[in-house]
Amino acid sequence: MSDIRTLPGFREFYPEDQALVGHIFDIWRRACRRYGFREWNSPVLEPLELFTEKSGEEIVRQLFNFEDKGGRQVTLRPELTPALARMVGAKANGMPKPIRWFAIGESYRYEKPQKGRLRAFYQLNADLLGEAGPAADAEIIALCADCLLGFGLTQADFRIRVSDRTLWFRYLASLGIPEAQATAVLGVVDKLERGAPKDLLDAMTAALAGTAVDPAQALVAARAFANTKCLADLERLAAGDAAMSERLGEWKHLLATLTALGFAECVAIDLTIVRGLAYYTGFVFEAFETGGEARALAGGGRYDALVKKLGGPDLPAVGFGMGDVTLRDLLELKRLLPVYADGPDFFAMILGDDARAAALEDVATLRRAGFRVEYNLRDGKFGKLAQQAETAGAKYALVYGGGEVAKGVAKVRSLTDRSEAEVPRTDLVPALRAVLEEGMRAILP
Ligand code: HAM
Repeated sequence: MSDIRTLPGFREFYPEDQALVGHIFDIWRRACRRYGFREWNSPVLEPLELFTEKSGEEIVRQLFNFEDKGGRQVTLRPELTPALARMVGAKANGMPKPIRWFAIGESYRYEKPQKGRLRAFYQLNADLLGEAGPAADAEIIALCADCLLGFGLTQADFRIRVSDRTLWFRYLASLGIPEAQATAVLGVVDKLERGAPKDLLDAMTAALAGTAVDPAQALVAARAFANTKCLADLERLAAGDAAMSERLGEWKHLLATLTALGFAECVAIDLTIVRGLAYYTGFVFEAFETGGEARALAGGGRYDALVKKLGGPDLPAVGFGMGDVTLRDLLELKRLLPVYADGPDFFAMILGDDARAAALEDVATLRRAGFRVEYNLRDGKFGKLAQQAETAGAKYALVYGGGEVAKGVAKVRSLTDRSEAEVPRTDLVPALRAVLEEGMRAILP
């Protein structure tokens, strides 16, 4: 036997797994449609530069890129946002705003495979374009929450931690840190929780090179700001700073909208979140399982400059991505994954070649009527065929012997309690519909 395995971080989906993936897509899709979002799609393979320019260093290090046979530099997509920005940008002028779009697709990142992180994963993306105010951010955060609640999770099971790159930039400006250095400083903020003190100081020193700001003091100030967890404390820090106070007005709008929509419980302020992707400009957020150590369930934020950078008009945008990997782990933990019984509705047991033509005619009729039907491809004895019907996962068998065919009936047999009843072949469709709804009592004499 050949020993060629799947690549590290790639998954195969046996039917039971594929059924679960289908369930996840179904819940995502239904939540997005409830919010008026329309589905789109784009190629899995893209020109390399779509991502090298727009996604930021971390993702570029993780690209699955190569040269194609035509000498083009290409890559498997690591995310969907740049393609969305390109597509919307190309037609934005003729589109009614705001644009509400979602996509579900596989993305690829050359990461170290580990719990919650693979090299190929499915992602839901939902984005709202054409509205710059916090009402749009609230709508996207609400949809992110509903995409999790749809599985039967409660608001106590996860937290959407909301932060703000705009507020960070304004705060850093109030410390005298110019915009040119602020992005590098946010890179240090991203590591505050994990980094060793000496490494953090070195990183801050490098980030502030060329400015008069003291790195040690900047580190203390950044830590204090990152640890602010409520609006009242932020207001105290912003007192006297007009730019920060103005931004806090938008925070109030965001939080009030989320409260009015009923999501107050699962949303929290957490300024330690700054997000690794380079294109984010305003509110950013990540969803995590409450109390767990697991990696993010979803992440997103506002990216007002990307559509224009990709050649489109100036179009504000906000969105999020949610992966299937950490989500599935959480749903397994909470026992919220459905058990799939994907056997047929009926298994036709065809006993002998004389009965075959009539039985196949019924099988075809039933399939056309929407029933799921299997039958024995080879002739066999009653016991063996009954076994086959059970193994297939059917609840009912339809017995076709010479006797039944001569009488113009099919015998319906429950594989759970072995009860049986004859149904005229001409009445099969309505009778079997009733059996599926009410059980054998619908046809028992
Ligand atoms: P992201 O935070 O890179 O954002 O990914 C979003 C989600 O995708 C993560 O929270 C995680 O659930 C899942 N994910 C990411 N990488 C992996 C991986 N290697 N293995 C398994 N799951 C993974 C984005 O991708 C942005 N494009 C989202 C966005 C849309 N922002 C605005 N619109």
